[in-house]
Amino acid sequence: MAKNIQEVDLKGRLTFIRVDFNVPLNADKKVDDDTRIRAALPTIQYAIAQGARVVLASHLGRPKGQRDMAFSLQPAAARLAELLSAAVVFADDCVGDGVKKNMRDLREGEVLLLENLRFHPGEEKNDESFARALADGVEVYVNDAFGAAHRAHASTAGMVRFARDRAAGFLMGKELEHLGGILKEPKQPFVAIVGGAKVSDKVGVLHALVERTQSILVGGAMAYTLLQAKGVAVGASRVERDALDIAERVLKAAEARRVDLKLPSDHVVAKTFDAQAESRTVSTLQPGWMGLDIGPETQKVYAKAISEAATVFWNGPMGVFEWSKFASGTNEIAQAVADTLAVTVVGGGDSVSALTKTGLADRVTHVSTGGGASLELIEGKPLPGVVALD
Ligand code: 3PG
Repeated sequence: MAKNIQEVDLKGRLTFIRVDFNVPLNADKKVDDDTRIRAALPTIQYAIAQGARVVLASHLGRPKGQRDMAFSLQPAAARLAELLSAAVVFADDCVGDGVKKNMRDLREGEVLLLENLRFHPGEEKNDESFARALADGVEVYVNDAFGAAHRAHASTAGMVRFARDRAAGFLMGKELEHLGGILKEPKQPFVAIVGGAKVSDKVGVLHALVERTQSILVGGAMAYTLLQAKGVAVGASRVERDALDIAERVLKAAEARRVDLKLPSDHVVAKTFDAQAESRTVSTLQPGWMGLDIGPETQKVYAKAISEAATVFWNGPMGVFEWSKFASGTNEIAQAVADTLAVTVVGGGDSVSALTKTGLADRVTHVSTGGGASLELIEGKPLPGVVALD
């Protein structure tokens, strides 16, 4: 079992904290959504208060091992300094002599943020010499980057064994507690809401949920692959033809475990995939029309199931929620998740952004900062970033 940060002596020690500052930037090169930076603050502030010499490291985007300044972490350093109301020293690389000097100069309670780890190909390759270079001089390694814990990279896995002490940060602990809690002993009725484009992306999650839930409410384009697999007409809706057998297996597994897997009974449809397309609500999908959101009847049925649940897990939007004409299904689900008295856990970028947009994020029990990581955890896959701490 991994130690938590409170079990390790930090005073005066060079403490390398892997954070997930993989945040969206706007056209002015400013942080557009600082949720992930805020989420790491408890760990950073604790380390500062303990008198650690704090070194923060993260990736941002996918610069493919190249030094591409469009992916610089400088904007994150600026935002972090504002949030901490303290200076944050920014190093223009994450390894090398300059960084070593920055580290030597660091005094107790001071913070240094390293440049994007993925500017070096060794990060994603989990290259041993790069991992050793990152760990050089590090006395305590802390992983608070839950969002990157499903990656076996040098900063999340490779370097861990080279640090004298290692521990999980507060965010990591909170994510594992809430998402893990759903897996262990969820209070019944446990209702899961799963949406998004592809069944193939969610197949592992669906099978894991079939083992634990009483009902699964499906929306988004993936619902049409499942409807087609059931022999229901789907018109021109997006169907993953090569995933129809996977869809059939999910349906069969749900039936065998007597899980009530609900699919939309009405739809908001359009003839073209366009934000301004003429739309209508139908119960039967006609040729030429594609489903782009769940209809009002389905919303009502899903909201009722959510209101009667004791545990709710939500991942993935119900329709093309970025376009207002097709956002009502996702917004209604967000409202129902906020209103229920159940324990509510939301994971995955799109459902989290729908919640944030509707201003409801603080009305759920736990909003995960992890996209892929939260899904892999729910699937029951070991996360390399967590395994390395153990
Ligand atoms: C995320 O945004 O899910 C994490 O930061 C991981 O990013 P990645 O998918 O580029 O590895």
